Amino acid sequence: MSTSASTPAPAAEEPVIAQRGPYKVQLLAGYRYAWCACGMSKWQPFCDGSHTGSKAGLKPKVFTQDKDQVAFLCGCKRSAKFPFCDGTHNKL
Ligand code: FES
Repeated sequence: MSTSASTPAPAAEEPVIAQRGPYKVQLLAGYRYAWCACGMSKWQPFCDGSHTGSKAGLKPKVFTQDKDQVAFLCGCKRSAKFPFCDGTHNKL
């Protein structure tokens, strides 16, 4: 039986909380959007390429809409229904 302490596994790197609430945005039908998943973009809630080279390896979620609509995109980067807000920010 070994008495040496084992090294704990490193914790998964979490995204940065860009904002503790959603961003209200107007989305246009047919456009490709890239929602920032890492939280480091200066152009929230959309990707500006800041994730490149980060250790987290978080990549943007690319999506389109079938129709023009106002949407609430996640700013805390922890929504299970990303890119859309699901209320998870209320538990942070
Ligand atoms: S802003 Fe992330 S769940 Fe609402």
